[in-house]
Amino acid sequence: TAVAAPEKLILAGQLLEVQSGKLRANQAILLEQDRIHSIVPIATLTSEQQALPSTDLTGYTVLPGLIDMHVHLTANPAQHGYRRLQQTPARQALFGVTAAKATVEAGFTTVRNLGAAGFADVDLRDAINAGEITGPRMRVSGPSLCMTGGHCDNNLLPHTYQASGDGVANGADAIRAKVRSNMKYGADVIKFTATGGVLSRNTDVNASQYSLAEMQALVAEAKDRGAIVAAHAHGLRGIKRALEAGVDSIEHASFIDDDAIKLAKRNGTFLVMDIYVSDYILQEGEAAGILPESLAKERTVGQLQRQNFSKAVKAGLNIAYGTDAGVYTHGLNARQLNYMVQWGMTPLQAIQSATINAATLLNWRNEQGQLNVGVLQAGAYADMVAVKGNPLEQITLLEAIPVVIKGGEVVKQP
Ligand code: ARG
Repeated sequence: TAVAAPEKLILAGQLLEVQSGKLRANQAILLEQDRIHSIVPIATLTSEQQALPSTDLTGYTVLPGLIDMHVHLTANPAQHGYRRLQQTPARQALFGVTAAKATVEAGFTTVRNLGAAGFADVDLRDAINAGEITGPRMRVSGPSLCMTGGHCDNNLLPHTYQASGDGVANGADAIRAKVRSNMKYGADVIKFTATGGVLSRNTDVNASQYSLAEMQALVAEAKDRGAIVAAHAHGLRGIKRALEAGVDSIEHASFIDDDAIKLAKRNGTFLVMDIYVSDYILQEGEAAGILPESLAKERTVGQLQRQNFSKAVKAGLNIAYGTDAGVYTHGLNARQLNYMVQWGMTPLQAIQSATINAATLLNWRNEQGQLNVGVLQAGAYADMVAVKGNPLEQITLLEAIPVVIKGGEVVKQP
C-alpha cells in the first residue's frame, strides 16, 4: 500500500484524550481523507505540514464527536400514541432528514438507531452516507423484534384492522428468520424487546417478553451474522433473562437489582440507561399524544431508573450513552450528560460513556481492527467537537457545542 500523506490539519488549543482524561495542549490533528492520520504537538509540525490547509481551533478544547447509542431519528416527538398511525415509513424517513441534521449539529456524529418501521432507518443512513443529506453516522437495527402483542408490536387497533409491527416474530425459528431478514435489508445491529414498555399500549413494563430459548436463538443468529444485540428491558426478570442469553446491551435497565448488576458485570454487558427522557414524558408527553396509561407507567419507572443508574455507576458497570431521542426533541441529546453527573458519574465518566464506551459497545472497526469512532487516534474517522472552556469542569458546555467536524468536514462553526 502507498504511504499516504496527510492532506489537511486541525489545530487544537487543547485535546481531551477520553481514555485517560488527560488534556493535551497545542495538538495538531493531521487528516488523510476522512480519517485521522496522526496527532502531534503543534510545535513539532514540519514546514511542509504547516503549509497544509488547516482549521484553527486553538481557542477551543477538542474532543471526539459524541455518540448516542439509543435514538429513533425517524420518530417525531410531537406525534406519539394514536398520532403515529398517520405516519408511513416514507413520511418517517422524511421527518428523519431534519432529525439527522439537528443531531449531528448538536455534536453527535454517530448514533445507533434502535427500531424503525419499514427500514426507514436504512434509507436515512444510506442517504447520509451518499452525501445527499446532512446527518450523523448511523448504525441501524431496522424494525425491532418482539413477540405478538409485545412492545414493538402495533397494539393500538382492534383485530378488525389486522395491524402488526414489522418486527413481530414468535418461536426460535421465526426469530432466526426475522434476524436474517433484518440483516438482508440492511440492519447493522439487532434490537428486540425483552419486556413491555412505557410508550406501547397494553404492555406491562414488568412482564417478560420472549422465553429464554427465544432470546438465545436470537442472540446466536445475530452473532452468526456479526451483529451486536440490544435488548430493551425495564422489568427485572426480562433484564436477567436477556443477560443470561448473552445480549451486548440492556436498554433502559430500569428495575435492575444487585444480582443482575453482578451478572452484567461478570458478562461485561453494557447498560444504556435513558435517565433524562422521563422529565420530558411527564412534562410534555400529554400534549404530544402520549397515552394516559403510558404516563402512569412512566411514573413508576423514571425515578427508580435513576436510583438504579447510581447503583450501576458505583458497581463500575460498563455504561454507554443512550437517550431515546425521538421520544423527545432531536438535537437535545446532550442534556442527559448532566443528569448522569447529578446521579453519580464524574464529568469524565459521562463523556466516556458517550465516546469510548459507546464505541467499544458498537465494536465498529476499520480494516486494521481499530475503532472507527469515539476516539481521536490514527485510523479513526476525523469526527470531533470543540467547546470553549473545559467540559471536565462544566459538563453543560456540551449542551451547546459551537463546532462540529465529521469526517474532516466542518458541519457547524460559529
Ligand atoms: N421507549 C421506552 C419505552 O417505551 C421509553 C422509556 C422512557 N422512560 C424512562 N424512564 N426511561 O419503554
